[in-house]
Amino acid sequence: MKILVTGGAGFIGSNFIRYILLKYPNYHIVNLDKLTYAGNLDNLSDIENHSNYQFFKGDICNFELVNRIVGDGVDAIVHFAAESHVDRSIYDPGIFVKTNVLGTQVLLESALKFKIDKFIQISTDEVYGSLGKEGSSVESSSLLPNSPYSASKASADLLVRSYFETFRLPAIITRCTNNYGPYQFPEKLIPLFITNALQDLSLPIYGDGLYVRDWIYVEDHCKALDTVLHQDKVGEIYNIGGKNEKTNLEITDLILKELNRSKSLVKHVKDRPAHDRRYSLDCSKIGAELGWKPDTPFEEGISKTVNWYVSHQGWWQKIKSGEYLKYYEKHYLQRESS
Ligand code: NAD
Ligand code: DAU
Repeated sequence: MKILVTGGAGFIGSNFIRYILLKYPNYHIVNLDKLTYAGNLDNLSDIENHSNYQFFKGDICNFELVNRIVGDGVDAIVHFAAESHVDRSIYDPGIFVKTNVLGTQVLLESALKFKIDKFIQISTDEVYGSLGKEGSSVESSSLLPNSPYSASKASADLLVRSYFETFRLPAIITRCTNNYGPYQFPEKLIPLFITNALQDLSLPIYGDGLYVRDWIYVEDHCKALDTVLHQDKVGEIYNIGGKNEKTNLEITDLILKELNRSKSLVKHVKDRPAHDRRYSLDCSKIGAELGWKPDTPFEEGISKTVNWYVSHQGWWQKIKSGEYLKYYEKHYLQRESS
C-alpha cells in the first residue's frame, strides 16, 4: 500500500510514519509537509533514508503539487497536516482557515480525481465544544466549536462528510482527544511543562487549572488509525480517546513528581479566551465495531514521556532557542504580567 501522510513532520504524523514503517515493511509512505514552525525533520531522522519513505516539502493548498503526488499511485491519504495550536488560532485565525479548511478541500478534490481507496481526516474532540461536569460526546453530538482552531477543524470535517455524501469519496473522520508522547512541540501543555521544569522556568497554568482534558498516549492513537485504515467501512466517524480525564493541575502535579521538582514552579496566569472547560468522548463505537481500545495506562505513558524529554534535551533545546522564543515572549510574558 502507498500512503500519503500529510503533516508527517509534526508530532502525531511523525509517530504514525514510524509506527507504520516498522509494522508494515512493504508499505510505502510519502510525507507531504510544509515545515511550518511545528514541522521538524529531526522527528524523522532515524527513518529519513528508509527505502520506502519519501519526503516532499510543500503546502497541501498547492493543488498542482498535491495532484502530482496523489497521481503517482497513492492508495490512501492520512491527513494530519494542520495548524494545531488553539492559542495561536486566537492571534492569527486566517492561516487556520487556509490550511485546515482550504487545504483539506484541495486534498479531497485530488483524492476524488485519482479515485483513492481511503481518505482519513484526523480530527479532534474539540469540534464538540465544551462539556459540563458530566456526560461524553458521541459521534452524532452537535458540533459546537469555540475557538478558530476548532471551528476550522469542524469546517473541514463537514467538507469531508460532504465529499462522502455527494461523491461517495471513501472517507472516514476520526476525532481524538489530547495526545502526549515523544516529539510533541513544546508549546502544548505536557511538553511545555516538562521542559520548563527541566529549565527551572515557571509552569503557566491558565485560570484556575481545573480544566479537564482526556489524555491518550500517541502510540495508542497510531494503533487506532492503523485499525481504521485497514477496515472496510467508509463514511463513518470514530471517536478515539484515552479513558483518562484529568485536570491541568493533576497533570502538573504528576509531571513535577516524576521530575522531583517543587510545586513553587506553578504560576497561575491569565486565562485563554473561550477556554473549553471539559472534553470527554464516548468511544464505545470504535470499540464495538473495530475492537480498538487504548493500551497505555497514563502513569506508564507519562513516565515514558518525561524520560523521553529528559533524554532528548538536544531535540527540544534546539526548538526552544529558535523562532519559538518570539512566540514565548509575545504569549507568556504578556499573560504573566496581566
Ligand atoms: P503539529 O502541529 O505537531 O503538526 C502539524 C504538521 O502539519 C507540521 O509538521 C506542519 O509543518 C504541517 N503543516 C501545517 N500546515 C501545513 C500545510 N499547509 N501544508 C503541509 N503541511 C502543513 O500537529 P499534531 O499535534 O501532530 O496534530 C496533527 C493532527 O492531529 C492535526 O490535524 C490536529 O488537528 C489533529 N489532532 C491533534 C491532537 C493533539 O492532541 N495533538 C488531538 C486530536 C487531533
Ligand atoms: O483535544 C484535542 C486537542 O488537544 C487538539 O485538537 C489540539 O491540536 C491540541 O493542541 C490540544 O488542544 P488543547 O488546547 O487541549 O491543548 P493545550 O496543550 O494547548 O492545552 C491543554 C490544556 O492546558 C488546556 O486546558 C489549556 C491548558 N494550558 C495550556 C498551556 C499551553 C495551560 O494551562 N497552560 C499552558 O501553558
